[in-house]
Amino acid sequence: MTEAELYSQYKGVYLPKIAHSPESLKYFEEFTFRTDDIIIVTYPKSGTTWMQEIVPLIQNEGDMASVLTLPNWDRVPWLEETRALELNLDQRPSPRIFVSHFQYSMMPKSFYKVKPKVIYVMRNPKDVLTSSFHYHGMVTFLVNPGTVDEFLAKFLSGQARSRPAPFLTSCLLPCVGILDLKESVSKIAHFMGKSLSEEVSAKIADHCTFKNMKQNKMSNYSLVPEEIMDQKKSEFLRKGIIGDWKNFFTDAQTECFDAVYEERMKDVKLTFVWDL
Ligand code: A3P
Repeated sequence: MTEAELYSQYKGVYLPKIAHSPESLKYFEEFTFRTDDIIIVTYPKSGTTWMQEIVPLIQNEGDMASVLTLPNWDRVPWLEETRALELNLDQRPSPRIFVSHFQYSMMPKSFYKVKPKVIYVMRNPKDVLTSSFHYHGMVTFLVNPGTVDEFLAKFLSGQARSRPAPFLTSCLLPCVGILDLKESVSKIAHFMGKSLSEEVSAKIADHCTFKNMKQNKMSNYSLVPEEIMDQKKSEFLRKGIIGDWKNFFTDAQTECFDAVYEERMKDVKLTFVWDL
C-alpha cells in the first residue's frame, strides 16, 4: 500500500492510520497529567518494548504479574494511540506509566505545567535505522521499505516515521547507558524514587534480558495476528544488539549517513554507543 493510504500527517510527523484516529489525537491533546506519572519517550525501534518491561517491574518491585499477564501495549500504553481512548487512561489509578513516540514540542499543554517524570530512550540511529528497515518489512501498517538505499533516503529525510527533534527537558532521567542491565535497573529505579534490593534489581535484569523477553508472549508481539505482523519475515525481538548496522550498511551508505548526521547533530552534545 502507498504512503497516502497508510499514513496521515500530524504536526509534520507521519503516523500510521491504523494506530491513530482523529479522536485519539484529540484525547491526547486534552490529556491531564499527574505529577507522579512516568512517561517513557522513544523514537520507534530504540527500545520501547524493553522499557515497557523494565519500568513496570521496577514500579512493582519485581512482582512479575503485570509483565506476565498484560501485553506491553496495555501494561504501558501509548498516549497518542487509539488504544488510549479504549483504555480510559485518564481514569487509571496512580502511579501511571505511559509511553509516547511524540517529541517534546508535541506534548499536551498539561505536560509542561505538571512536569511528569520522563524516561527518554535513545539508541544509536544507525541501529535504529537497521531495526526499522526490518520492521517496515514485516508489518502491514507501514510502507514497504524498498531497497536499503531507498529506505536510507527516506529515513534521513524524515519520511520513514519522522520525529526529528531531540526531547530535552529538565525532568529527564540523567543519561543511563544500558550496557550493564542490572546497574541500569538500579539507576532507573533511583530516578523513579524506588529503592530496590540487590536481589530484586538482579531479578528484574534477568527477566529483561533479550533471551528472556523473547520468551514472554506478553512482550514479543506473538499475540499480534500474522496478517498485521509477520514474524516469519523478521522477528519483533530480532537481534537486540549494538552495532548490527555494520552488517547492514555498505561503506557508501555509512558515508552518506555520516555526512547527514554530522551536519544535523553539530550542536547536539550527545555521544552514542555505535558498536561494542
Ligand atoms: P533489533 O531489531 O535491532 O533487534 P522498539 O521496542 O522501540 O520497537 O525497539 C525494538 C528493538 O529493541 C529491537 O531491535 C529489539 O530486539 C530491541 N530490544 C527489545 N528488547 C530488548 C532487550 N531486552 N535487549 C536488547 N534489545 C532489545
